[in-house]
Amino acid sequence: MRVVEIVERKRDGAKLSAGEIDRIVLGYAKGEVPDYQMAAFLMAVVWRGMDDEETAQLTDAMVRSGERLDLSRFGRVVDKHSTGGIGDKVTLVVAPLVAACGAPVAKMSGRGLGITGGTLDKLESFRGYRVDLTTRELLAQLERIGIVVTGQTKELAPADGLMYALRDQTGTVPAIPLIASSIMSKKIAAGAHAVVLDVKVGAGAFMRTLARAKELARLMVAIGKAHGLEVTAELTAMDAPLGRAVGNALEAAEAIATLRGEGPSDLREVALAAGAEMLFYARRARTRAAGRALLEAAIADGGGLAKLRALVAAQGGDATMVDDPSRLPRARRVEELRAERAAYVARLDAAGIGLASVRLGAGREKKGDPIDHATGVVLRAKVGDRVAKGQVYAEVHRDDAPGDAEALDLVRRAFSWKSERVARPKLVLGRLTSSR
Ligand code: URA
Repeated sequence: MRVVEIVERKRDGAKLSAGEIDRIVLGYAKGEVPDYQMAAFLMAVVWRGMDDEETAQLTDAMVRSGERLDLSRFGRVVDKHSTGGIGDKVTLVVAPLVAACGAPVAKMSGRGLGITGGTLDKLESFRGYRVDLTTRELLAQLERIGIVVTGQTKELAPADGLMYALRDQTGTVPAIPLIASSIMSKKIAAGAHAVVLDVKVGAGAFMRTLARAKELARLMVAIGKAHGLEVTAELTAMDAPLGRAVGNALEAAEAIATLRGEGPSDLREVALAAGAEMLFYARRARTRAAGRALLEAAIADGGGLAKLRALVAAQGGDATMVDDPSRLPRARRVEELRAERAAYVARLDAAGIGLASVRLGAGREKKGDPIDHATGVVLRAKVGDRVAKGQVYAEVHRDDAPGDAEALDLVRRAFSWKSERVARPKLVLGRLTSSR
């Protein structure tokens, strides 16, 4: 069958066969299918969708486009993935904690794109940190210290890498079957036995509504199950940023504080929930409650912090920054925003804060742009907090970028105020698992 006929069939709403999906996906990975045909196909999927069977086959084709790691010799390897949000530095907290509790963590992370930050950029705040480990290096480090956080190697699900880059340029990112297959193909190819997914919901996330987030979570759990993986998807709120820091080095410092037991409560809560699930799936804890107790102990005895130090050192980063976060990159100026009257924070728009941090240089306008690790925003007040007149509610860390004035304005407008008391928003909105 000619590729154009596959595109036409999807355009007209037909269900594609496994053979047709293989033809277009594997053909694209080999360079036999041109960008314009793949772009047309992706747009047809955005409009017509795919059923569960087609999505599972799409995932399978993406996995088979490259190599699949076998990590069985390390025991049960558990991965985690967030669909992306503002201020989401959970991996920097949970990966060292889980590894400190004896479960191997081999995590392939991404860079920030658009208004959402990326774990690799945050880790590169530690001067010298390498994110381009080869498969050999990854396996050797996992053997030696039980933790790796690196970029996706070119050999893993290469079809996804190519398709994602094209989606980013053709307005075809926000389709649930495409997002689900993209995320799960990487997890399956990376050799995980179980995955804990953090599906973000709200103004600062891909999924703006709970219904769409639930659908994405359901599909990812089903795909994982079909590939023999245990999967839990936590649905967590992303109307407001997670934690107080937004921006790479600021977030790295907040992760360190959390590992010291001094972090913000929402970040700690999401990290402990994900970590408990990971330890349960890694068979390191009989119950989630037991997993949580182990994680709390690894915070209290410094085990998690020691693992972060070992991770940074192993990947060539300056580990002294872990013990002395004041050595992390710092912006030239810190602008303090002060309340005009006494009031409660009623809303804190994650998208506005995310955009502000991009304007400050902490994020990318387009793929490949350089970033400034030092800049960003610190939220000194969150939803439900009361501030007095003149009290600082946000800090803007800036390095004289052209977008600074707009960023300051965006941060101001991201806050909505009320005179009456405001309830703190719910953080965990739901949960789906492959087993129960
Ligand atoms: N993250 C991914 O890895 N893929 C998507 O399609 C969206 C978010």
